[in-house]
Amino acid sequence: MNNKLPSLQDAKIRTQTKSLIKRDLFRLDLAASNIGVGKNCYVRTYGCQANERDSETLRGMLKQMGFQLVDDEKIADLIILNSCAIRQNAEDKVFGELGYLKQYKDINPKLIIGLCGCMAQEEAVIDTLLSKYPQVDLIFGTHNIHRLPQLLYQVMINHERAIEVYSKEGEVIEGVPTDRFSQHKAWVNIIYGCNKFCTYCIVPFTRGKERSRLIADIIEEVNDLKNKGYQEITLLGQNVNAYGKDLAYEDGFSLLLEEVAKTGINRVRFTTSHPWDFTDQTIDVMAKYDNIMPFLHLPVQSGNNEILKKMGRRYTIERYKEIYDRLKRVIPNCAFSTDIIVGFPNETDAQFQDTLNLYDYCQFDNAYTFIYSPRIGTPAARMDDNVLYKVKQERLKALNVKVNHYALLNSNTYVNKVVKVLVDGLSKKNKNIYSGYTESNKLVNFSGENLEIGMIVDVLIVEAKTWSLNGKRV
Ligand code: SAH
Ligand code: SF4
Ligand code: F3S
Repeated sequence: MNNKLPSLQDAKIRTQTKSLIKRDLFRLDLAASNIGVGKNCYVRTYGCQANERDSETLRGMLKQMGFQLVDDEKIADLIILNSCAIRQNAEDKVFGELGYLKQYKDINPKLIIGLCGCMAQEEAVIDTLLSKYPQVDLIFGTHNIHRLPQLLYQVMINHERAIEVYSKEGEVIEGVPTDRFSQHKAWVNIIYGCNKFCTYCIVPFTRGKERSRLIADIIEEVNDLKNKGYQEITLLGQNVNAYGKDLAYEDGFSLLLEEVAKTGINRVRFTTSHPWDFTDQTIDVMAKYDNIMPFLHLPVQSGNNEILKKMGRRYTIERYKEIYDRLKRVIPNCAFSTDIIVGFPNETDAQFQDTLNLYDYCQFDNAYTFIYSPRIGTPAARMDDNVLYKVKQERLKALNVKVNHYALLNSNTYVNKVVKVLVDGLSKKNKNIYSGYTESNKLVNFSGENLEIGMIVDVLIVEAKTWSLNGKRV
């Protein structure tokens, strides 16, 4: 058996060496090219858009190997869990599912269970899997997804357990097949990895160093999507604003964003932004092009400067407010959302109050709020923490009252207005009700007739709810 195991220590290392663009790493040898014929495969995705996008790559490769993709694990011959490590509860879900799947393996010993994604990059997880989860046959990490054919061959033909996780990334890998979830909206990777090392976060360890794709490759992908009829693309990165730093661009993201807008594709979005690298120029480019959607997700994490410092975020609340003020001045209709962590080690009541105060200042359209979860190997996990879990829960609750309050307040401003909505589909319950998103990323349920997925239509908003709007097509 040829096992390769992860090391968080190795994953921490950052070198100045330039990333190589590799176009020939994915190989489908003749021997593996039909090992999926007559077999069903189920891929389950946890975590963020990066994982969603990776699952599309997995599906693309699996299809080429002849697998039939299914949505039901009960009829699957191969089950792959693409896992997330961001918080303990994310990991618990995956372990729970692995435990649950054991019964299928007992009934059908030929069933193959695989685990990939961010959890596979953690040595503690691998230790647990090796000692307590013999039902897992295949483990691979975020840096060697392209090796799926070879690893599956090892499991299916050689009947060996395959464990292959690289701790250090080297390349930007192009030329891997993909099978997208949607025919009208697409994720487009622009930068992989993260160099920020926020003290609470596991992502820089699980996703490696920042590596940018070439502008030409990104534009080619966008043009290709546009030609296929895609209406919307979302540029993806853990920190899109760091795009191109490794390619020696000064403000690569603004440059790229403008080039993408110029392709003329109907809707351009991007996520996630980081205030540290965020430039005024990006706001100017957003304002200049109608097809860049008026929506910015800018995680703040805390409203207190001392906590931000301990988090290693490297901006101040003053700078954050500056970005917000400028955004609202230049693009008044721009929706604004954020991520917030409560209960960071030793966070005081007064520091938490600063977060509430910031919330009142920015009046976010939406926020993803989390209780701090210690991740093994990160600096914050070694910090003293005198905050009781009960207190953290109370803070989350108090914060969420504000989140809901401002979400409804913002939703209300849409009533009696006509907005453009990209049709995502029909409501499951009512066949005359469609749903889709506004340019500012608000979910709209609306009545209409004979609409097709992927159309962009005018909708009059008649009612506002906290997390959605109701309307009718006009
Ligand atoms: N790269 C993005 C998203 C990272 S993960 C960014 O930097 O914004 C998404 C969110 O999960 C983060 O913004 C943060 O709010 C939250 N998060 C990350 N690590 C966490 C941890 N250890 N405990 C609780 N929340 C965490
Ligand atoms: Fe994690 Fe910070 Fe990187 Fe976001 S920027 S992925 S929070 S380390
Ligand atoms: Fe989770 Fe990895 Fe994304 S930890 S949030 S799947 S980068």
